[in-house]
Amino acid sequence: MTNGTPLVGIVMGSDSDLPIMRGAAEALEALGVPFELTIVSAHRTPDRLFEYGRNAHERGLKTIIAGAGGAAHLPGMLASLSPLPVIGVPIKSTNSLDGWDSILSILQMPGGVPVATVALNGAKNAGLLAAQIIGSGDDAVRKKIIAYKQTLSSSVLKKCQVLETKGWK
Ligand code: RP5
Repeated sequence: MTNGTPLVGIVMGSDSDLPIMRGAAEALEALGVPFELTIVSAHRTPDRLFEYGRNAHERGLKTIIAGAGGAAHLPGMLASLSPLPVIGVPIKSTNSLDGWDSILSILQMPGGVPVATVALNGAKNAGLLAAQIIGSGDDAVRKKIIAYKQTLSSSVLKKCQVLETKGWK
């Protein structure tokens, strides 16, 4: 975990979400953004959910990433409780029918309570988006994001070169 006071809170409904949610942690770690990671279950630990949602901003967090599967109420409930931006990660979990249940539970929020929903199992992008939110007010993080985007671009250009020199066969 990156050192320093956590700026991003990564929460998930169950430890069974960790193989997916570790993507958010890895992205934040690579960009040097301090974060915390824990389990908060909307259905199994409702008191913990309320405490986390009401206090996250008082503890210095700037944004929350919340991942859950199936009847995924964690991101939306945190968004209802917290003034911080909440990024929702729908997870194709063991109790998920096909992933659409998770997606729609997180995506279809009522007006007034936004959740920035990433793709199914899209925890890496959630980490990058959280870093971009932090980077909008932090030069050092913004520079790392700019450098990261350049690596994306140059890796594609290298592949173009390979195609041009070796052909598609
Ligand atoms: C959701 O139920 C969790 O976020 C997880 O995706 C899913 C299954 O949880 P476990 O039964 O594996 O603990 O609330």
